[in-house]
Amino acid sequence: MKKLHIVGNWKMSLNKEDSLKLAHNIKLINNKDNLNIEVAPTSLYLAEIAEILQDSDISVISQNFDFQNLGSFTGGICLDQLKEIGVNKTILGHSERRSNFNESNEQINNKLEIILNSDLDVIFCFDSYEQVPFDILSTNLKDNSKLKLTLAYEPTWAIGTGKTASIEHIEEIHTKVKETLEENMLQEIPILYGGSVNSSNSKEILDTNNVDGVLVGGASTKIDQLLGIVNSI
Ligand code: 13P
Repeated sequence: MKKLHIVGNWKMSLNKEDSLKLAHNIKLINNKDNLNIEVAPTSLYLAEIAEILQDSDISVISQNFDFQNLGSFTGGICLDQLKEIGVNKTILGHSERRSNFNESNEQINNKLEIILNSDLDVIFCFDSYEQVPFDILSTNLKDNSKLKLTLAYEPTWAIGTGKTASIEHIEEIHTKVKETLEENMLQEIPILYGGSVNSSNSKEILDTNNVDGVLVGGASTKIDQLLGIVNSI
């Protein structure tokens, strides 16, 4: 049975009280063998939530990072700081970082190279086949490091809009990406789908060919929805 991934991206949607409450509720989830569950709280509360969830079945990841090491970069977050608080994975290249924070393809791809050569793992988001930097992946992922990377297809128009991409469309893009990964001997890399996933549509999406999991925004901030997605597997 293939391993599935459910990743909750809380974005900047919750205040402290609601973030901690959600973390305590999530802690009670009993994971299943074939399932990997991760949540990405806002960076302000990462350390506290990593501590709450440290002995649970749920992993805590970051929504972004800026640099590898400590330095004079006001407002930044680096990989060394994430590691120090027990966070070993981050999302990178989310379309909201690209559009609202003006992160360019070049900046994001530079950060991808940095993290692929570090000991942290990454979920790289793309909103079209063309945005996947296959050259960087094939150059930087060696045999023993292929599983450092997860890809996440998130069509911008489906994010936070309630408009989920059709199953045919999701399958078409995921299959195209998977085929190019195969040509580069990288077919083990999981590909998640993100964009208005909820407890009503998650089963159908997760049953789709070449979909290895879901990256969930709004629905992952509501415990009933999150449980619904987990139980749909
Ligand atoms: P929604 O699930 O709210 O559409 O957000 C998707 C997303 O951006 C996950 O990273």
